[in-house]
Amino acid sequence: NWTPAHFVTETVAALKQQIGDRKVIMALSGGVDSTVAATLIHRAIGPNLHGIFVDNGVLRKNEFYQVLEIYRQLGLNVTGIDARQRFYDALAGKTDPEEKRKTIGGLFIDVFQEAAKAEDRDASFLGQGTIYPDVIESVSVHGPSVTIKSHHNVGGLPEKMHLQLVEPLRYLFKDEVRRVGRELGIPDDLLNRHPFPGPGLAIRILGEITPEKVELLQNADDIYVKALKSHNLYNAVWQAGSILLPVKSVGVMGDERTYEFTVALRAVTSVDGMTADWAHLPYDFLAHVSNEIINSVRGINRVVYDISSKPPATIEWE
Ligand code: XMP
Repeated sequence: NWTPAHFVTETVAALKQQIGDRKVIMALSGGVDSTVAATLIHRAIGPNLHGIFVDNGVLRKNEFYQVLEIYRQLGLNVTGIDARQRFYDALAGKTDPEEKRKTIGGLFIDVFQEAAKAEDRDASFLGQGTIYPDVIESVSVHGPSVTIKSHHNVGGLPEKMHLQLVEPLRYLFKDEVRRVGRELGIPDDLLNRHPFPGPGLAIRILGEITPEKVELLQNADDIYVKALKSHNLYNAVWQAGSILLPVKSVGVMGDERTYEFTVALRAVTSVDGMTADWAHLPYDFLAHVSNEIINSVRGINRVVYDISSKPPATIEWE
């Protein structure tokens, strides 16, 4: 019978065997899977695991520093790289969703490889937080011929960098990963985080991305996510986020006319993200969030709630 404690003991022993005194590098994302995988590998080989966490400029508000702090508390050896400006430069003028994804995925690999070259020339392994559904998904989910949205990952990296893979979660499902994470002492806050796409807020800002728009959306989204948590709704939905629409509309503020952006709030219930229903959040909760966003985020004067389910809509707007 499978228990998290057994899994940890056996996996740590197997990792020690596999890796010995060689080195592992790993891209960390702040997500559940990469954090649990890194913590396991760290248990086996300590500082010979070197993590790299990139600020791509489209993370959530304060996420970069909060996540680095959690890594520090877990004792992980992680370098944070502020690459925001490079991503903004690369994204400038791009409006097509797939082009944004490719730009971010490609630049991420460049930044990661540069960091690895500078600091880990002698690494033999690449750690990855691959879990069982990823293994299946890469062969079947999007069908053999149609990719609806290309998902950002570090595919192709190990071959390019002549590294062997270390994937300690390869045979686990998400709930098992969370149980292993709890066993390893990773904070619940991190283990219960909603899924967040690799291209981040870039696919939640419709149209062109600018640092100003990122800041607007980060501020609105932060209000929404904090309110979900304080109203005990965060764990009741599968995923939630805010979308900045390329639409300005007229409003009034005191005796002034405003002409500002619209933010859409999205929350869904789902089991695996393949299908999803829009979450029936309470009206008074939505009213509270709407007021708070409009009153405190200058540049947004209208909030709408997305009541589309998947299919035929998707969870993200791009
Ligand atoms: P959709 O929008 O296709 O999203 O209904 C389903 C799930 O996948 C996430 N998603 C992504 N994750 N890179 C990612 O890492 C991407 O490009 C990407 N696009 C969508 C989305 O957040 C949801 O959880």
